[in-house]
Amino acid sequence: MARVRAKGMWLELHRSNRPVTGASRAPDAVAAAVRAGDLVVATVPLGAYERLPAAELAGRTVFDTMNYYPERDGRIAALDAGGLTTSALVRRHLAGAHVVKAFNNIDFRRLFTLARPVGAADRSALPLAGDDEAAKERVARLLDTLGYDAVDTGTLDASWRSEPGTPVYVQPYLRARPEGLSEEDARRWFFDTPGVPVPAERVRELTASAVRGPAGGSRAALADG
Ligand SMILES: NC(=O)c1ccc[n+]([C@@H]2O[C@H](COP(=O)([O-])OP(=O)(O)OC[C@H]3O[C@@H](n4cnc5c(N)ncnc54)[C@H](OP(=O)(O)O)[C@@H]3O)[C@@H](O)[C@H]2O)c1
Repeated sequence: MARVRAKGMWLELHRSNRPVTGASRAPDAVAAAVRAGDLVVATVPLGAYERLPAAELAGRTVFDTMNYYPERDGRIAALDAGGLTTSALVRRHLAGAHVVKAFNNIDFRRLFTLARPVGAADRSALPLAGDDEAAKERVARLLDTLGYDAVDTGTLDASWRSEPGTPVYVQPYLRARPEGLSEEDARRWFFDTPGVPVPAERVRELTASAVRGPAGGSRAALADG
């Protein structure tokens, strides 16, 4: 949040309004913030996508970072049937919003450590997909401000090209994990290991070479990859 604010942007973080004790904001405060922001980032486990406030988000640009992990999200029949991308599912729920998919193919640690200023030789790129050109432009500008080039991979229907299991998903930005680490060492390695810069041309190649498989990722496959 400090890095985003240092770029002259205002960022508000809202929690889910699940009936929990503690810091969750009142629903009316969340709705007001959603209406006031230029861009809304929707980043919850996909199994909770129907909790995103569709009425408040109509007409807004919604930045969708979400992925489908059945072991976490439960099985979503509409995705398991094949043919529907996760962002198209989100679009169906958020009728009237301009959904743009990005940030879903890089882990949160590398997202932070691989950010570089415009023109840096080791600047990375991230794919983005969406149906509305102006909304994509808005998200691309945000990526640029946060330290990434954007590679437009097409519409939300084409966004399977960056879903779990595809060549551009997580692994290119992350070094191969050494074998035989204990759980504790693996955690330390995850936090300490530097990322691998992935330039725009490589993102284009990786997304172009993707072959569509069944919906949904497996965390075990990700760890072993
Ligand atoms: N973490 C990563 O490195 C990464 C990278 C790329 C993409 N993604 C994708 O981005 C999304 C968010 O990932 P994350 O790691 O940030 O997930 P997370 O920490 O498990 O969840 C993010 C927030 O979602 C809310 N939430 C959780 N369960 C909910 C439910 N049942 N109903 C309503 N809200 C709920 C929680 O808010 P409250 O605490 O207020 O309840 C939580 O703080 C996922 O779809 C993930 O696949 C993650």
